[in-house]
Amino acid sequence: MENFEPVIVAYCCHYCAYTAADMAGSMRLRYPANVKIIRVPCTGKVDAIHIMKALEKGADGVYVAGCLEGDCHFKNGNTRAARRLAYVKKLLDDIGIGGERVEMFLMSAGMGERFAQTASDFTEKIRTLGPNPVKAALGEAKRAVG
Ligand code: FES
Repeated sequence: MENFEPVIVAYCCHYCAYTAADMAGSMRLRYPANVKIIRVPCTGKVDAIHIMKALEKGADGVYVAGCLEGDCHFKNGNTRAARRLAYVKKLLDDIGIGGERVEMFLMSAGMGERFAQTASDFTEKIRTLGPNPVKAALGEAKRAVG
């Protein structure tokens, strides 16, 4: 697992985290290239199935980054997303994948440093956890089928 480079999917709200990622770039802050950003109009649009699909398709970790509490442009999209995340975490714990592979972060558009730090910290956390066990299981299943 020494050379393990995790694949991270980050669902980022257009109004905050995505702009914060832009700002991090403008500030020339470095964050791992492992993080693949998917822009969403609001974290409230991220459903449990999107997170599960990302893990099924090979992501080692997934996070959702939304507006600060009270700042969601669609009133309560971020709180709905937080509830879904809690559900997915429990589901992943129950099936043995581990809920710590998914996380939610809140930030404002001006928090470029927080975006870069979050991306780095989460990547390190997933690197420590190791590869997503679903990938190995799917690989074995494909080999068994031929
Ligand atoms: Fe950013 Fe809803 S608009 S989380």
